[in-house]
Amino acid sequence: MEYVQEILHLGGVSVPALAERFGTPLYVYEAASIRKQVANVRDAFAALPFRPFYAMKANSNLALLRLIREHGFGCDAVSPGEIHLALRAGFAPESIWFTCSNTSFEDFRAVPDPRIVINLNSVSEIDKIVELGLPNPVALRVNPDVGAGHHADVITAGESVKFGIDLAELETARMLLEDAGSSIVGLHAHIGSGVDSLAPLLASAECLLELIDDFPELRWLNFGGGIATPYRPGDAEFPIAEYGAALARIAGPRLRERNLTAILEPGRYVVAASGVLIARVTTKRVSAGVDWAGVDAGFNDLVRPSKYDAYHHIVNATRGETGALRETYDASLHREEIVVAGNLCESGDVFTRANHRVVTRAIEPLRVGDLVAFCDAGAYGFSMASHYNARLLPAEVLVDGGEARIIRERQGLDDLFRGME
Ligand code: LLP
Repeated sequence: MEYVQEILHLGGVSVPALAERFGTPLYVYEAASIRKQVANVRDAFAALPFRPFYAMKANSNLALLRLIREHGFGCDAVSPGEIHLALRAGFAPESIWFTCSNTSFEDFRAVPDPRIVINLNSVSEIDKIVELGLPNPVALRVNPDVGAGHHADVITAGESVKFGIDLAELETARMLLEDAGSSIVGLHAHIGSGVDSLAPLLASAECLLELIDDFPELRWLNFGGGIATPYRPGDAEFPIAEYGAALARIAGPRLRERNLTAILEPGRYVVAASGVLIARVTTKRVSAGVDWAGVDAGFNDLVRPSKYDAYHHIVNATRGETGALRETYDASLHREEIVVAGNLCESGDVFTRANHRVVTRAIEPLRVGDLVAFCDAGAYGFSMASHYNARLLPAEVLVDGGEARIIRERQGLDDLFRGME
């Protein structure tokens, strides 16, 4: 992402040209960014017996899945739909883990291949797969009693969370599966998303390592995802090399001794920085002395600000400069305090929020007709998009080698009517 003569370019392609060709709102991904992130993951954990996985809930576009698969990743899927997307993208069935979350009989019956690893989240789910007689290898998702994340709603271990088998129940889980003749090939813990420090990740890893003696058929220890990425100017990069070195220190010898392979399954870390949501400024207004810009996208396209008060850096893609970008932020540039709001019929449809409130943001001046880019929107952007207010899902474009290609067509009215009389 760079400015060339005031115009934002993604992977060498001008954003106004992309908006002209594909319309707005538009998700644009840079392949080079994803390649860099997957290489970082591979390098950081190279000292371990290691297989990287990708948590596809972050972004399950087939073109991105294929790109990530080509770099040797397996895949964490959370629904039959995600499993089918992973298979279609060419992931081998044995490289797919189906991580359950209050999974129904119908969902279990829809697992299309006996080689897919079923990662069980509760004794109730164990009862179901035993009743169905599923032949798949299984893993157990453990609650390691330590959680972390960028928002309370994305902390997935510790107290009051719906995930993971309690340590006290693990023995029951193991016996039920062994009695049924299932092979427990993996243990798994995922403590949350947007985890920006090593300590909780390592505490969770220690917890898993303490359990391995009770599981003779283990092949994998899955330490989950959750690695944070920068969103605000000045945010530090996650120390992924340190994470790899620390994990190699605490887990390396025991993994080798037992001939186990470590899995990490980041989602956000792989795709967040690659993606930008492009929208056009449609209106401006002043209300009670506060400036507002309205854009042709809403929380149906990018829900993270409305849902988690998440910060997405916003730049003017039509007229800007290098100092506007998060990575090269120059605080001395001329900026104006403004609220940026979407086009949905709801007061919470505002992209500039903090502490459950609408706030202004200092942004380079915006005019009606300018394009804005919501940065770092590659993870949990499109994958959380909805049809709210009967808005159509936006198009997605991948930029690679200086060329842009459509990887998901913009929806049309037929998509809205489908299945209804
Ligand atoms: N593995 C499991 C079992 C997960 O539940 C998740 C995320 C991941 C891996 C990947 O976590 P990551 O590396 O992306 O942090 N919608 C929220 C994030 C929810 C994450 C849910 N689980 C957001 O927009 O921040």
